[in-house]
Amino acid sequence: MKVAVVGCGYVGLTTATALAWAGHRVNVVEIDERRVASLREGHPPFFEAHLDEAMAACARRLRFSTSHAEALVGTRAVFIAVGTPASKDGSADLSQVWSAVEQIVCNLTRSNVDPVLVTKSTVPVGTGDDIADRIRHLAPHHQLPVASNPEFLRQGRSLRDSLYPDRIVIGGPERARAVLREIYRPIVERSFEPLPGTTHPYGHTTPSVIEVDRRSAELAKYAANAFLATRISFVNEVANVCDRLGADIDSVTAIMGADPRIGSHFLHAGVGYGGSCFPKDTRALHQLARMHGYEFALVSAAIRVNESQRFRVLERLAWTLGGVEGRRIALLGLAFKAGTDDVREAPSIALARALAARGANVIGHDPRAVANARQVLQKVVVLTTSIDEALRGADAAVLMTEWPDYLSLDAQYYRARMRRPIVIDGRNALPEAVRRGVEYYGFGRGALRQPTIERSRVAAD
Ligand code: UGA
Repeated sequence: MKVAVVGCGYVGLTTATALAWAGHRVNVVEIDERRVASLREGHPPFFEAHLDEAMAACARRLRFSTSHAEALVGTRAVFIAVGTPASKDGSADLSQVWSAVEQIVCNLTRSNVDPVLVTKSTVPVGTGDDIADRIRHLAPHHQLPVASNPEFLRQGRSLRDSLYPDRIVIGGPERARAVLREIYRPIVERSFEPLPGTTHPYGHTTPSVIEVDRRSAELAKYAANAFLATRISFVNEVANVCDRLGADIDSVTAIMGADPRIGSHFLHAGVGYGGSCFPKDTRALHQLARMHGYEFALVSAAIRVNESQRFRVLERLAWTLGGVEGRRIALLGLAFKAGTDDVREAPSIALARALAARGANVIGHDPRAVANARQVLQKVVVLTTSIDEALRGADAAVLMTEWPDYLSLDAQYYRARMRRPIVIDGRNALPEAVRRGVEYYGFGRGALRQPTIERSRVAAD
């Protein structure tokens, strides 16, 4: 089938590539001309492992253009995958969605069979209804059914998540659902070839297709992200209690996770979640509920816990070093997690600023995200692409993301370079041998005395 995708961020480009890989002809519209030029040459605008190879392998079915009119000819569905960043009050800014809708409607031709308009972007509940109203107003002669088809892919493994999803959610009227069922058939039936150099994942069952009303589909996306974020904040609080009670978080979560009602995923304690989704979507859900007269207390607590969790590193550093002023602190990992170059709402960025504000000399390293980090941190910290340089002469190192480049370092590597081998493991990811060979502090590993710095002082900054 012929489909169009509007927007070339993580969700748009991955969705487009996955649909092309599954056999569809996909026209991608992106308003940024430079971006289109480099996409035509096969370069994604962000780092995502294997995406460029997959784009190259299905290049015949993947077209990029700045023209909506060109992209819409003969398409059965148009996926809107533009950004929905947070506004100042936490609610989602839909200006890019509205502009996409207008462009789509203005560029429909009468000879077309009207395509289904599908929101892939995470949008507030009721946006699909508003889009349907807007289309009725702008193009009364057209009949575009509107569907919500939220995306659950994770950065760092986005193509795999798109081709092997757990579930496909389709919300909207039957006419829209029928087209989307058809589009997703190759993915549901797994009739596509494995990605270059891979096999279909062993033991993965084919996805269930969940067909619901549009509002439920829209809300499910927020609820899923907010639930996962709450889980992380919950486990981080358990870790904080472990530190005070002398228990071990890994043992506690192993026992919790062995209960199938709980499960073991998303129970990793550390500096908390970041990225372009959890922080934004939790705030948007909280704001959405409040606008409709409901105080979502649990989500609000999860947000607060997450925002303070990263500063526990600061407490530990201040406690072990007797203050951070004038100390050289190496931050290992600047992206919000391993496998991406995305620094949006990364705990490391907030921590780097807080350390610098207290007079620490911060040196940040990341295998992929230095260029993006430079844009947000500018002159606040020194940035390097050399782990050796980051650790040389450091008074302490903080592991902020679990990139394999860091997990493969042995204790001697730290000891040989650092002034004092204090290593704070912000992801509880370092192997046992490293933990034994350095002055190690994890999260919820027990036996940690109360930090002396007052939390209120930290929060005040
Ligand atoms: C998240 C969701 O997992 C996806 O299902 C969703 O589609 C996506 O948001 C989105 O809305 O677009 P992503 O932001 O790529 O995906 O990253 P995750 O792998 O979920 O991690 C989010 C953050 O939580 C990271 O900072 C990670 O380090 C942190 N995390 C994750 C923990 O601190 N502990 C955990 O146990 C798991």
